[in-house]
Amino acid sequence: MRVLGIETSCDETGVALYDTALDGGNGLLADALYSQIAMHAEYGGVVPELASRDHTRKLLPLVEQVLADAGMTRHELDGIAYTAGPGLVGALMVGAATAHGMARALDIPALGVHHMEGHLLAPMLESDPPAFPFVALLVSGGHTQLVEVQGLGLYRLLGESVDDAAGEAFDKTAKMLGLAYPGGPEVARLAEQGDPQRFRFPRPMTDRPGLDFSFSGLKTHTLTALRKLEATGELSEQDRADIARAFEDAVVDTLAIKCRRALDETGLKRLVVAGGVSANVRLRARLDAACQKRRARAYYPRGRFCTDNGAMIAYVGAKRLAAGERDVTGQMHATPRWPLDQLGAPVPRQPQD
Ligand code: KG4
Ligand code: ZN
Repeated sequence: MRVLGIETSCDETGVALYDTALDGGNGLLADALYSQIAMHAEYGGVVPELASRDHTRKLLPLVEQVLADAGMTRHELDGIAYTAGPGLVGALMVGAATAHGMARALDIPALGVHHMEGHLLAPMLESDPPAFPFVALLVSGGHTQLVEVQGLGLYRLLGESVDDAAGEAFDKTAKMLGLAYPGGPEVARLAEQGDPQRFRFPRPMTDRPGLDFSFSGLKTHTLTALRKLEATGELSEQDRADIARAFEDAVVDTLAIKCRRALDETGLKRLVVAGGVSANVRLRARLDAACQKRRARAYYPRGRFCTDNGAMIAYVGAKRLAAGERDVTGQMHATPRWPLDQLGAPVPRQPQD
């Protein structure tokens, strides 16, 4: 089954083609991405209305591009998947309406998929994908979750952030340090020059049992450290780098402690790490070391599939469409809030169900 995947939940327009006949590392036929980051950077974060407008400009040209890259026409498509949530409602509606319009015209099924399920299964696009079951750490700009994954759609939430997501904490810290949006890669770059011994930030919620996270206190800690330094004179580049390093170490350590706990509690030996923050090099090194000690293994998406992309949506959509799941014809979905553990395994449906 050849499925077009469309991602428009936030500030990236992603489009890809996946073929279930070529599963196991070769199914991805083409993918293209347009990032709106430069446009939003001016405002220090995503402006929802501008995001929607830009998706409408970029989406159809990207669809044409991936079809051309794969040497296919739209008449060879068997289904269309789009991100139905969670995300910005206006941005989601651009993808949903385009998917349903195309599906109606081509008389093929459309299916709205969950953005975080896309992230969760992005490592399945690699040549050596993880087998079920596994523990997944989802770390993006909007979510920080630990999930026990038994199969497609079978997700048990083990823990999540009670306030800011890890990526959000990176973005806010970056702003305090005067760095550009999105802050994760910028903070990581600055932290490279930082002295890990100079400051020690807390590892929130690690001193008690449980798998929930809290990152908003770290933000206050960063601000306090900055204010203290500013009170003694002008902030040097080294000061900023030392703070970036202390912050990154605290987030990475906290995530690693909870992942170790999740592996021990579930007895599982595979850890999937996905979402934008999974691109963080220091996080990967820490998690690899933690897994090695337990004879477990960590799996990551390739760099460009850590952040938002169309490939992960095409993959999840293809799996679910191939199992017979589909939207009611003409009934599009845009669901800004959508808990991951409500998903369930694919349910075969008739177009009019
Ligand atoms: O998954 P994603 O592209 O979008 C959401 O679904 O939210 O994640 C974006 C987040 C941003 O907060 C960004 O700062 C963070 O991922 N991020 C990183 C790195 N690369 C991206 N955080 C830490 N280190 C990185 N290298
Ligand atoms: Zn995302």
